[in-house]
Amino acid sequence: MTILVTGGAGYIGSHMVVKLANRGYDVVIVDDFSNSQEQIIERINRLCNQQIKLYRLNLCSLAECNRMFSENDFDAVIHFAGSKSPTESVRNPLKYYHNNIFSTLNVLTAMKEYSVKKFIFSSSATVYGEPEQIPITEQMPLKAVNPYGRTKIMIEEILRDMYSASPDTAIAILRYFNPVGAHSSGEIGELPTGIPNNIMPYLSQVTAGILAEFPITGTDYDTRDGTGVRDYIHVDDLVEGHLAALHRMDRVTDLFTVNLGTGQGYTVREIISAYEKASGIPIATRTVDRRPGDIAQCYADVTLAKTELGFTAKLTLEDMCSSSWNWQSKNPNGYE
Ligand code: UD1
Repeated sequence: MTILVTGGAGYIGSHMVVKLANRGYDVVIVDDFSNSQEQIIERINRLCNQQIKLYRLNLCSLAECNRMFSENDFDAVIHFAGSKSPTESVRNPLKYYHNNIFSTLNVLTAMKEYSVKKFIFSSSATVYGEPEQIPITEQMPLKAVNPYGRTKIMIEEILRDMYSASPDTAIAILRYFNPVGAHSSGEIGELPTGIPNNIMPYLSQVTAGILAEFPITGTDYDTRDGTGVRDYIHVDDLVEGHLAALHRMDRVTDLFTVNLGTGQGYTVREIISAYEKASGIPIATRTVDRRPGDIAQCYADVTLAKTELGFTAKLTLEDMCSSSWNWQSKNPNGYE
């Protein structure tokens, strides 16, 4: 089976490529390296023990996208490519609508043209906005609070319309909670550009001495210690969830929407303690204002993933923190 992984040089995409190749799939990466570094390809190839076929192109070009499909015989597409910063999307909404929507439309158009019938989409728990209740089930209303989140909702809508028109296509919409951690080898991991927005890369850079202290963005939430609660899932478990979705497509041809999380929420303070324990290094913190748009608690109801995909996340918070620290401490200069 040949799988096209769009955004295969990115954080989650790279872990997906390594997992697929090591399970015997033929993999093709497409990436424009707008938010990733070319040097990761060498690491990926080493972890896969082979040269993975790579297209360096922007999926917003339909001609380029079609050319790639014409040169390969893809069985499935896993679509990670897209811009992903909620904050940036508020400042530059057109970039988000342009990149995320056009690229997806082009991939879907090429899939139609070349009769590729399996599609897995990286959605996000961000589509639930401020949830009315937790744990969050897949049936809860969708209401994003920023353009990034709205692109995810729009693409989900496009996929539902597309499936209605082409019910012979298997589509999986995977709503990720908070992916963290790194590959067990320490060779690939999350590498944000500039000062990280997300908790785990920020903690790793404070622990490494690159940043001075960790800003806790809000200590007055209605949670057990006042800090935000999230459902963190190890990136290795997350990509296993994609494999489970791919296997399900051998049995069922439908449009399937599922949460990928652990079902367990941790506070910011709990994450900091776990990171200190994993690294053996104390983390300096300071309390700052809440970030606009942040919610108090968010964690998944994972029943559907279990019953329909046979998927349960296995790795613990300790695994998430220790793999993150292993990656950070082995690669103080990223992929250079
Ligand atoms: C964010 C995005 C979400 C995206 C996800 C990817 C927003 C509003 N949401 O989720 O769309 O899918 O990342 O992983 O940006 N925190 C601090 N200090 C920091 C950073 C974060 O205390 O410097 C706290 C936050 O208040 C939150 C928790 O850590 O309680 C997790 O934050 P973060 O890693 O940014 O993820 P989300 O905001 O949940």
